[in-house]
Amino acid sequence: MNPVIYVTRKIPEEVLQPYQNMFNFRMWDKEDVPVPRDVLLKEAATADGVLCLLTENIDREFFDYAKNLKIVANMAVGFDNIDVEAAREHGVVVTNTPDVLTETTADLTFALLMATARRIVEAADYIREDKWQYWAPYLLAGSDVHGKTIGIVGMGRIGEAVARRARGFGMSILYHNRSRQEKAEQELGAVYSDFTDLLQKADFVVSLVPLTEQTAKMFDRDAFNNMKSSAIFINVSRGGTVDEEALYDALAANEIQAAGLDVFANEPISSEHQLLELDNVVCLPHIGSASEATRTKMLELCLDNLKAVLNGEEAITPVK
Ligand code: GLV
Repeated sequence: MNPVIYVTRKIPEEVLQPYQNMFNFRMWDKEDVPVPRDVLLKEAATADGVLCLLTENIDREFFDYAKNLKIVANMAVGFDNIDVEAAREHGVVVTNTPDVLTETTADLTFALLMATARRIVEAADYIREDKWQYWAPYLLAGSDVHGKTIGIVGMGRIGEAVARRARGFGMSILYHNRSRQEKAEQELGAVYSDFTDLLQKADFVVSLVPLTEQTAKMFDRDAFNNMKSSAIFINVSRGGTVDEEALYDALAANEIQAAGLDVFANEPISSEHQLLELDNVVCLPHIGSASEATRTKMLELCLDNLKAVLNGEEAITPVK
């Protein structure tokens, strides 16, 4: 009997096709709606492997139900939705999807940075709302990107890929990270900086840190106070790294200039979210890695991890 894999969202048949002869797939049948908790627990109880998304809370209770489970393959590089300690205690391997999404996520980070600095969304809406009457010297004037200082908080793979793009724009690069990244220093000219120093000097503060107990709400009132009044804050990691009330207050009081956000503390947000009252905010619905090619690669990496572990081999990208 082939191992049973539960897939927590409807994904394309052609992606599953090459794996059909080795797995017995079961799948939640909706593309845009997460699997209800009771269905997830019931399915987990008999699965050998689960392919899940960041919308699933894979906690201790889940592992208590999942008696046959050997692997959870998370379709994301971040894994704050998974209780990794509980997985370890239950002997379940957890995998994520690093590398395949690095460049795509760095592209989006830079797109958000540029959209925010140059007020692209506001400007496009200006025409849609029929406000464009005349050209004017300071009409929708924003901030330059080239030649400025970027401060990257969290210098992992995506941070490095963002730094490479920043170099192309002639930016100075500061970074803050748990450990020094000598390769980035040598190859990209990135300069290590303590957190406060980075906040005080950067024109663009970019959060790429994973969400952990240590990084939760690290962008708090003090952090925004430390930034320049012309600073632009970009978050493409997890909303939980930011105190959103403090961010709102800093933006509303013009203590910082603008923010570009791909992630939020409680997703999804709606147009009623307080941050959307402000013109100087660009919000995106957590699309960092969302190119068709990359989303397919992420799914394939999940499936290859499932295949390896259920064949008794090492996972390709285990969460350590
Ligand atoms: C997306 O947010 C991811 O962690 O891959």
